[in-house]
Parts: sequence; structure tokens; C-alpha cells
Amino acid sequence: MFKQSFKYYKSKNPPPNLDNVLDLNKSNDLTEFQIKKVSIKCEERKKMFGFKHPKTWEVYEIVDTPGSLLFIRNPFTSIGQRYWTVKCLQDYSKKPNKTNIDAFNLVPENKEWWEMCQNNNNVLLMNKLRWVTLGYHHNWDTKVYSEEDKGKFPKDLSDMTLYVASILGYTNFSPEAAIVNYYHMDSTLSGHTDHSEKDLEAPLFSFSFGQTAIFLLGGNTKDDKPTPIFIRSGDMVVMSKESRLAYHGVPKILQIDSRYWDPIDENDLCYIGKDYREVVNICKDDALWKPFGDYLTYSRININVRQVLSRGQKRLNSEDAEDVT
Ligand code: SIN
Repeated sequence: MFKQSFKYYKSKNPPPNLDNVLDLNKSNDLTEFQIKKVSIKCEERKKMFGFKHPKTWEVYEIVDTPGSLLFIRNPFTSIGQRYWTVKCLQDYSKKPNKTNIDAFNLVPENKEWWEMCQNNNNVLLMNKLRWVTLGYHHNWDTKVYSEEDKGKFPKDLSDMTLYVASILGYTNFSPEAAIVNYYHMDSTLSGHTDHSEKDLEAPLFSFSFGQTAIFLLGGNTKDDKPTPIFIRSGDMVVMSKESRLAYHGVPKILQIDSRYWDPIDENDLCYIGKDYREVVNICKDDALWKPFGDYLTYSRININVRQVLSRGQKRLNSEDAEDVT
């Protein structure tokens, strides 16, 4: 069932009918699908990290899926969406973080990928970047983390995820690994489960920016019929417990929405925090922001943040590798 649905929504010719895709922007869909509105206690919270005030967040639980899957409808301000886009393109893509293009030696030691793309308007090089890994590096072959393959986890991404985790009541969460996926209009991500981390109780936080994706959310086997869901710029998905073992994937990226990262509201600028002013200055200057906005016109970025260590654990042991299949 998962494979058939994936093929259906991936198809260019004929294009898929989108009527059955769950759309959290449509009030009808909120009653027709198995969705529960979740209330969060956050009156006293400050607005931070490019988010709208948490009391305005719309949090939904997709009830039909195993475990717990939360969908938060774009809690980011425009400037917040721009901030994380700039970070993913200009900063997280830098060494020593790992990328899929490392293997091809396309970027000399003394150069940076984003700079090289900008200097020659090198669209070919720009479209080659498909993923970056941060913190404990995801091993795409073995799916096993190792203490020997680990970089520094970015402070701003850690602070932002901890803020979200505390608002949603995940007080023990620790951000230790992230994968940033870069999608272009013809990119897909095939069905998979997230089982590399030992503690499946710990949530996985997923943040998306740019063009809209059809996200397929299945069950514990590929025989279960998946639910297609639109994920738009700024939307956040939180998976925990059995939902992390549910098959999911992205069969299609669509240019169907307005630019949620435009225009910016000057009043939101102060809420990112003073440590991050340099990037905020790029976000609020139309000329400096332009190449990033151009990238988002034809692309989507997804950051997913995970906890690797079990509660109380300081480092991975060699036995951990044997436990993970
Ligand atoms: C993932 O499942 O790893 C990413 C999903 C997404 O791009 O929304």
C-alpha cells in the first residue's frame, strides 16, 4: 500500500489528484480526518527563536497513527523562516559538518559550498547538496551512531529545539543529532522508519521551510495504507514512541503556495536573540536575503533533530551498536 501511494503521488504524468491530501489549512479537513486539537500551557512564555507567541500555536494530534504524531501549523514568523533557511544554506553546510557532496571533492578545502554557488551562480552545484548531518553523524549505510563520528551540535538549533520541547512538555529532551534534507522540485525521500536512536520515547522534531511537500504517513508495515499530508513552509512535525516506527516519506514537492517567508514584520526582529544578529541582518536586508529567497522558490529544506543517548547516558558504548538493527 505504501509503495502504491508513493508511486501515485510521485507521478508527473498524469499528476496526482490532491483532493485526498490532508490539508491543515482547510477547516473541513480538521473535522473529516482523525485529528485532535491539543492545548498547550504557555501563557507566560516569551516569543523566541523566530517563533510566533506560543499561545497562538495550533497544535494537532493525528489520531489515526500509532504512537504520537503532533503537527504544529507554521509557528514561525517570516523572519524566523528566513533565519533557519540562511543557517541551513550558509552555515550548516560548512565543514566539519558532513554532506553528501563531500565524497565528490567539489568544494576545495579553503572554500565554502554556498559561497561557490553564489560566486558563479552555479545552479548545478547548488542542486547537488541533498543532505547535511550535524552532531552525531547519521550513518546512511549502517544506521548506527558512533562516538567516533560526531561533530559539534549548533547552539542556536539546540536552543530552538529545547524551547519547542519545553513548550510541548518534553522536558527531558536533549538535541544531539540532526539531518538537514535539501529537496528540489523533482526530489523525493523514499519510505523509511526512524529507528537509529535507542530511546524511541524521545521525540523527533522536524522543521520545514520553502516549497510544500506531500508527506506520506503510513503504519508499522508497508502494507498499511498511508495518509498523505501537506507540509508547508514553517510547519513542524513531532514524532514520538511508535510513530517513529511508522513508515513515512516524501513522494512530491509542489509549488502551490504563496511565499510564507514574505513579507517580514520589523517587530519580530528582536526575538531571535542578540547572539544571532549577523544572520538576522541578512534576513531583514532585501538584497542580502535575495539569493536565499531565490533558493526557496525552487526548493524545500527539512531539519530533523533527534536525541541519540538514553536518559542519563553520557556517551555511546560499543554495545549500543549491537542493539540497533
Ligand atoms: C525525514 O523523514 O527524514 C524527512 C521528512 C521531511 O522531509 O519532511
